[in-house]
Amino acid sequence: MSGLKHFLDLNAVSKDDLREILDIAIAFKHNHSPLGGRYPFQDKSLALIFEKPSTRTRVSFEVGMKNLGGNTVVLQGSDIQIGRGETIADTARVLSRYVDAIMIRTDDPEKLAQLAEHGTVPVINGLTDDSHPCQIMADILTFEEHRGPIEGKAVAWIGDGNNVANSWIHAAAQFDLILKLACPEGYTPDERALAWARENGGEVIVTADPSEAVAGSDLVVTDTWVSMGDTDADKRMKDLAPYQVNEALMGQANKDALFMHCLPAHRGEEVSSEVLDGPQSVVWDEAENRMHAQNGILSWVLI
Ligand code: CP
Ligand code: NVA
Repeated sequence: MSGLKHFLDLNAVSKDDLREILDIAIAFKHNHSPLGGRYPFQDKSLALIFEKPSTRTRVSFEVGMKNLGGNTVVLQGSDIQIGRGETIADTARVLSRYVDAIMIRTDDPEKLAQLAEHGTVPVINGLTDDSHPCQIMADILTFEEHRGPIEGKAVAWIGDGNNVANSWIHAAAQFDLILKLACPEGYTPDERALAWARENGGEVIVTADPSEAVAGSDLVVTDTWVSMGDTDADKRMKDLAPYQVNEALMGQANKDALFMHCLPAHRGEEVSSEVLDGPQSVVWDEAENRMHAQNGILSWVLI
């Protein structure tokens, strides 16, 4: 045991620690550093490795870290020696000599695991093909700001059972919420995530029917039909077409249900503009909260 605190997935951090991270995030958001001092990350450096594109993750980590006194180094996968075959293990050993934590956005979750195994500093998952835990921390924070505790609330996931859906499945068990996923055949979420959540008390229902998922829900969530790295866009657009979140579908959720989307959104595809820009949508708060949630994560791993 290294004693390092990594943030690799929602099912790899304890319930209590996830709650502590959210408490720190809220304190930072309201300008009360729970650690004392205006610059708790002073003299700390974070490397951000991107093997896939990003707007929110990059900006929110960079600005969050710098606002709290830290430094960041952004490394595009194609610009560093990983792109020419240097191993993840060697990269982890070297970066650990320079920085205090490493965030990586990559395709293969095995690369994330290797970074954590061979580095000697905390590693944060900034999205893999399997999960997106930072996003769901921001989503929980956003829900609770608007509606109070998420425990016992019903969340509907509509569309592709992708990486973001998998982190929601982990969250079902970790935050004691009820998750109903509506995904067509061939797009159902990761069986390992479902099994883990159910073994750990998560109430998770998978259906092919969007109406069944949204009925009685307090929050409706969707994501792009074509994730980064997906190569079958035409087929996906056809198969997922009946799963658009529009006003008709939102009308079947609870009256005060919120709408969330991790963004980037594809208007007219997985969500209509009326819903994205409508009164139930909290997507801009959700995007802002990426920074506050991650400040909580950074504080938890660094200090
Ligand atoms: N939601 C999210 O992770 O956005 P980016 O891909 O822009 O980082
Ligand atoms: N499922 C999307 C999320 C983007 C933030 C993707 O992986 O491309």
